Amino acid sequence: MKCGSLLQKLIMTFIIILTIVLVSLAWILSMWFRITYFAEKRTQFAQDGEYISKAVKIYNIQQNQIELDKLQGIVNMSSVGANADIIITDKSGRIYLDSKIESRANGEEKPNISDKNMRDLVSGAPLEYISDRYTYIYPIIEQDEFQGYVAMTAPLSIISKQLHRIYLIIWISALCAMVFASVVLSLVSKKILINPLAEINNAAKRFANGEVNKRVYVESQDEIGELANSFNIMAESLEKVENNRRDFISNVSHELRSPITSIKGFIAGIIDGVIPKDKEGYYLDIVYSEIHRLTRLINDLLDLSAIESGKLKFDIKKININELIRLCVLNNEQNIKEKGIKLKIDLQNDNCYVKADEDKTMQVLTNLLDNAVKYCGNNGFVKISTYYKGNKVFIAIYNNGPKITEEEIRNIWTRFYKSDKSRTNKVSTGLGLPIVRMILMQQGEEVWVKNDPDIGVTFTFSLTKYKNKKDKYQRRKE
Ligand SMILES: Nc1ncnc2c1ncn2[C@@H]1O[C@H](COP(=O)(O)OP(=O)(O)OP(=O)(O)O)[C@@H](O)[C@H]1O
Ligand SMILES: [Mg+2]
Repeated sequence: MKCGSLLQKLIMTFIIILTIVLVSLAWILSMWFRITYFAEKRTQFAQDGEYISKAVKIYNIQQNQIELDKLQGIVNMSSVGANADIIITDKSGRIYLDSKIESRANGEEKPNISDKNMRDLVSGAPLEYISDRYTYIYPIIEQDEFQGYVAMTAPLSIISKQLHRIYLIIWISALCAMVFASVVLSLVSKKILINPLAEINNAAKRFANGEVNKRVYVESQDEIGELANSFNIMAESLEKVENNRRDFISNVSHELRSPITSIKGFIAGIIDGVIPKDKEGYYLDIVYSEIHRLTRLINDLLDLSAIESGKLKFDIKKININELIRLCVLNNEQNIKEKGIKLKIDLQNDNCYVKADEDKTMQVLTNLLDNAVKYCGNNGFVKISTYYKGNKVFIAIYNNGPKITEEEIRNIWTRFYKSDKSRTNKVSTGLGLPIVRMILMQQGEEVWVKNDPDIGVTFTFSLTKYKNKKDKYQRRKE
């Protein structure tokens, strides 16, 4: 057992509790034993005293040696029966009969009775003294006159012996209980506490050393079982984070490597003269678009990490979302025209004021419109509409392109996810939707995607309506 271990603490606590309980028990038992012992002795001595006093009265009448011998016999018998020394005195306090006459020749064993107690005794009340012996004094009253007393003294060594026996029994049982409990406690707690905890501890250490697939198997339904379960849940989510991190690094490296490789190849071709002079312009155009793609990728990554870490400050203010939608369409006009896309804008009112960061909302709109144009194919149809519900404004962007599969719907929000059809697109990074979601989440808004029952896909996001103070005041008045 390790010093300071849980098991040691458990056993120590148990021993302390057991000791407190047993000491209290010993004290209560000894008190109870003394009370019972004295009550019994009192009753017995009262009966013996009465009996002897009756015999004394007969002797007082006869006053002869035969009666005295009889009285001596009675006293001796009572002394043996009660296991006590008995003396009888006359009214002046002189001992004239003793169960052990030889030992009390000097009258040393006569009880020391105070004047007050003597007065009680003379009036007929028995007395008792408890010191290292128990003494019971029974008055001899004859025709209402005090004639002396019978004093019975029992040594307390009998009680002490009995108490010692009780203490011995208690301590022996305590010792047995401690040994037994320590063995049982260590066996039981090892099974239900120590071993499962050691397993969780071991798993946590191995987990910290990089074995992220490590799990614990504890079947109990108690708190240890719950702890193991929580550990497994934590391990699962950390494994997911770790896998995401690995995927992320490999994706970033891959995304960076391919444009750099092609840039390097084309530039080397131009320098070496492998690329003919008249084709240089064409290849430089490709180099330029690859550099453009690299810049976009790096900007997107920086944006994403800044939003995620909360470092990017949002400038939330009153903006006209309808105006922003129109502006976004204008910015993408060339792209829309190039693909021969038919665009419909269906806004609920002319103006619609929301609380949002203007630049970030523009980024959200641009990403979603860019996707809608990109994934609906040439001569497709795109519709941007707004509708209100409570204090929310919903902006829906529809395109009549192919539906997104269930699996894609689960993955499109993951960084670098690109469906096969978009892999051909050189400028895609697969960071558009994660950025959209992160921007909206940071503002407490939502975004989701739904396939149209017939054809097409709709991406919808929410924004919060702007309420100016006047509106609030009016509403309260209403
Ligand atoms: N309107 C849409 N219709 C169909 N599929 C879509 C639509 N928008 C997104 N997707 C799917 O979701 C994937 C992820 O989109 P996301 O915008 O994140 O990346 P991307 O468009 O490929 O790249 P980037 O936005 O960086 O140019 C896309 O590859 C595509 O498969
Ligand atoms: Mg996109």
